[in-house]
Amino acid sequence: MATQAQLTVPTDAELLQAQADLWRHSLYYMTSMAFQCAVKLGIPTAIHGLGGTAALPDLVTALSLPPAKLPYLRRIMRLLATSGVFAATDVEVYRLTPISYLLLDGVAVVDGHPSQTSVVLAATSRHCVEAALGLTDWFRKDVAGSPFEDLHGVALFDGSMAEAEPEIDAVFNEALKAHDNSGFLAVLQECGRTLFQGLDSLTDCGGGNGTTARAIVEAFPQVKCTVLDLPRVIDNVPADGVVNYVAGDMFSLVPPAQAVLVKLVLHHWSDEDCVKILAQCKKAVPSREEGGKVIVIDIVVDSSSGHTHEAELLMDVAMMVLTNGRQRDESDWGEIFTKAGFSGYTIVKKLGARGVFEAYP
Ligand SMILES: C[S@@+](CC[C@H](N)C(=O)[O-])C[C@H]1O[C@@H](n2cnc3c(N)ncnc32)[C@H](O)[C@@H]1O
Repeated sequence: MATQAQLTVPTDAELLQAQADLWRHSLYYMTSMAFQCAVKLGIPTAIHGLGGTAALPDLVTALSLPPAKLPYLRRIMRLLATSGVFAATDVEVYRLTPISYLLLDGVAVVDGHPSQTSVVLAATSRHCVEAALGLTDWFRKDVAGSPFEDLHGVALFDGSMAEAEPEIDAVFNEALKAHDNSGFLAVLQECGRTLFQGLDSLTDCGGGNGTTARAIVEAFPQVKCTVLDLPRVIDNVPADGVVNYVAGDMFSLVPPAQAVLVKLVLHHWSDEDCVKILAQCKKAVPSREEGGKVIVIDIVVDSSSGHTHEAELLMDVAMMVLTNGRQRDESDWGEIFTKAGFSGYTIVKKLGARGVFEAYP
């Protein structure tokens, strides 16, 4: 007979705490929805317009809300202040925090961090929330695509999504641009010289609209930059005379250069696809002795990263629900580099949840 595991009965104090934690876990989505509501109402921009701090009645006026909604706004603001989205400076007075700073619209913000409102709107959209609600059904079905694909019949960021759901596709693409372009100036500042000094050419593989490539050329004018992306992306980018744009498929050919950059692309893809993409990148660069390298900038899951770790894990489950990709820890990255045929790699820098790698042919 199988022996039953001894169940340790929690103490009353532990059970009370557990009940509060259970409420918290079940109701986390209220924070996401309150956060979305604050973005849609434009609360960060309104606080900024009021001088950086705002009393609730002034906020109600600035947002043109019915005065009777003040007590409800108070409750939303109290929750969001507890979550760090705003800070309460005094009774009923709120100010911006670094998070709400990223949510200012139409205001020149911190270097390299474009407004992230589209990221919030996309991540909390009906399409994503419904895909997450379908997780249980998806687990029980023997299907290959993501819960998003299973539910909506199209893959996120796929060309067919643009045809089937043009409005939400536009929101997702805005979000992608804002998310990816955020923080690159910090990379340039922290390790730009190590990565790009002395390079004569670079291909940004999956380089989108070329924002990253243009920033590299501005900081390192000797680097001739090429951006490779899908035809439907490249066809919409106006020629700028700074960067060379190539429409193509990174699974087939990556334009040759001394170095290839792959920034925030691989976490959308399965391990097998990452190996195929990286093998093409490796083919595009010369040997290590001739200065060839592939620079990968992507999220690195790191259990010692404290507060950031939960965000890394949430991003990982988001990749599972929305795409066929995943977030990887350092050993996962090492394994992929090895399978793609690289002789070695280094982590040049860890910046928040992101890691900057150099992989050598
Ligand atoms: C998450 S975005 C990253 C954009 C950019 N690297 C950045 O950091 O700003 C992924 C990019 O890969 C591009 N992409 C997807 N499939 C591709 C393919 N088969 N060949 C080339 N680019 C592709 C997408 O169009 C998109 O621009």
